[in-house]
Amino acid sequence: MFSLIACIGKNRELGKNGKLIFSIKDDMKFFRETTLGHKILMGRKTWESLPGKLKNRKNIVISRRLVEGADKSVSDLKAFISENESSDEEIFVIGGGMVYFELLPHAKNLYLTEVNSSDPSADTFFPKFDKSKYSKELIKKGKENDLTFSIYKYIKNN
Ligand SMILES: NC(=O)c1ccc[n+]([C@@H]2O[C@H](COP(=O)([O-])OP(=O)(O)OC[C@H]3O[C@@H](n4cnc5c(N)ncnc54)[C@H](OP(=O)(O)O)[C@@H]3O)[C@@H](O)[C@H]2O)c1
Repeated sequence: MFSLIACIGKNRELGKNGKLIFSIKDDMKFFRETTLGHKILMGRKTWESLPGKLKNRKNIVISRRLVEGADKSVSDLKAFISENESSDEEIFVIGGGMVYFELLPHAKNLYLTEVNSSDPSADTFFPKFDKSKYSKELIKKGKENDLTFSIYKYIKNN
C-alpha cells in the first residue's frame, strides 16, 4: 500500500530550485513520526536534496541509474508498484513532484500539510486530485511564525 506525504502551499506548491518552500517544525515532526520505521520511496532529485539518508527508515530511490548510498535503488517503477500496491505494508512516498504524480493513482492515503501561503516562484507542484474520491480527516491545525497550516489525511474511497 502506498501513502503520499507532502507539505503543500495554497496552489499545491512543493518546491523551488531543488529545495523545499516551507520550513515548519511541526510539519517536520509529523513527517518524522509518521515515516519512522517504514520504507520511504523518493525520486532521485528529492534524494539529492536531502543532507543524507533519513535515519531509521529504508530509503528507496527511483532513478534510471543506480543510486549509491540509498538502501535500495529502483529503476523499474512499474514493477515496484505492482509488487507493493496490494501489500498491507504502508510505504511512504516522500516526493518529489514527478514521483507524487506517478504514484497518486496507486495511493490509498495522502497525508498533506496544507499551508495557507503561496509562492509564485515555485517550480514543482503536487498533482491535482479529485477530493470527492477521498474521505478527509483533520490531524492537526497549527501556526508557526506567520504561517498557518492544517495537516489532513485523505483516504481513498473503495
Ligand atoms: N513539499 C514537499 O513535501 C516536498 C517533498 C519532496 C520533494 N519536494 C521538492 O520537490 C522537488 C523535487 O521534485 P522533482 O519532481 O523535481 O523530482 P523527483 O520526483 O524528486 O525526482 C525525479 C527523478 O526521479 C527519477 N524518476 C522518477 N520517475 C521515474 C521512473 N518512472 N523511472 C525511473 N526514474 C524515475 C528520475 O531520476 P533520474 O533522472 O536519476 O533517472 C527523475 O529525474 C524539490 O524542489 C524538492 O525540494 C517537496
